[in-house]
Amino acid sequence: MDGPAHRYLRPETLTVNAGYAPAAHHGSIKPPLFATSTFAYRSAQHAKDVHERYFRTTPPEAEAEPEAERGYIYARLDHPNMAMLQARLALLDGAEDAAVFNCGMAAINAITQAFLRPGDTVLHTRPLYGGTDGLLYGHLAAFGITPFGIDDALDEAAIRAAAEQAAALGRLALVMVETPANPTSGIADIALIARVAAEIGRVRGSRPLVVVDNTFLGPFQQNPLAQGADLCMTSLTKYAGGHSDCLAGGVSGAAGPIHTLKQLRTLLGSQLDGHSSWMVLRSLETMHLRTERAGHNARAVAEFLRGHPAVETVNYVGFQQPGSRAHVVFARQCRGAGSTFTFRIHGGENAAFGMLDRLRVIQMAVSLGGTETLICHSATTTHANVPAARRLDVGIDDSSLRISVGVEHQDDLIEDLRQALESA
Ligand SMILES: Cc1ncc(COP(=O)(O)O)c(C=O)c1O
Repeated sequence: MDGPAHRYLRPETLTVNAGYAPAAHHGSIKPPLFATSTFAYRSAQHAKDVHERYFRTTPPEAEAEPEAERGYIYARLDHPNMAMLQARLALLDGAEDAAVFNCGMAAINAITQAFLRPGDTVLHTRPLYGGTDGLLYGHLAAFGITPFGIDDALDEAAIRAAAEQAAALGRLALVMVETPANPTSGIADIALIARVAAEIGRVRGSRPLVVVDNTFLGPFQQNPLAQGADLCMTSLTKYAGGHSDCLAGGVSGAAGPIHTLKQLRTLLGSQLDGHSSWMVLRSLETMHLRTERAGHNARAVAEFLRGHPAVETVNYVGFQQPGSRAHVVFARQCRGAGSTFTFRIHGGENAAFGMLDRLRVIQMAVSLGGTETLICHSATTTHANVPAARRLDVGIDDSSLRISVGVEHQDDLIEDLRQALESA
């Protein structure tokens, strides 16, 4: 299904059909997998035309180029499976276009390389996923980039103060927002941050690009672009891929910046391969069902943990204090609470490790968003590379466990947690 009709369809319908036209592929009801590294030109003139089209400086008009007539050059530049996934992802995110990458970190890397220059500053919510944190505070420091954290991403004064301080250090070029945050589930007010970024732009003559990492909720529960973000970045490895069997990343937004990212991706060689593109496209068809079921399970698991004496705190996104700022923002910004959250048990690392080692059904692994429930000790795994002071400052301590609840039967998950907590 290609063309303007898709504008009137709901996401649950788009995710099954959008981005693929059977008529262009011998009527095959499902997309073929193009296992090729390069594409034959029809003539020398055709070769010239497709190169001119690909390397033009402005983005092509998507609807002016029917899928069947699109020309391809070489699979690092673009290929049909990537194009199908990009079209579907853009529609789900409510964007003009999308670019997909070989993992979420490749997408984040491309954003930083495309839009940051030496001397720039980056404003960000706290905490950030360990990889993003490592990129900003480690690798990019060598390129003269200065990151600056926001203390409270729900508080206008705190956001404004941090933005002013970051802008005073250099050109504030990017605002990186992770909401809900990994692993604390902290919420940031996207619309408020976008407003402050626009103001900075008016005052200083250069508006920072607001990028939201939407990995924890995904397009069925949160649409950052509708809240005013410029780019929506998602690790498609998680809920979109949904089966813990491939890595992928996506960025959605206006045609201009996405075109920039696609051109850079060609130079970085971080395109998504045909097979992974095909797998994620297929998994998107069931994403809303998995998201819904995992969300129900997560609420049941979070409620069980909240009532258990061995558990100190449960940072589940759906447990916001009524009337709090987080609750107001959650209600405006999110359509669900996801299924990944952190809880802390009494007794520090010893108790946490003991409990993890007693689990029989729930598996111990990093990553999230798969059909299976996974759990990990954040301080020593996903955030092991984040300096202790910065980790503790945002509440990731030795008692913190991150759980990604899957689609199994909720009673089996709760029973497994109960026996692991109680058989010490
Ligand atoms: C919030 C968040 N953003 C980005 C990433 C990076 O994604 P990938 O592992 O696909 O590179 C992760 C990975 O865990 C993540 O949790």
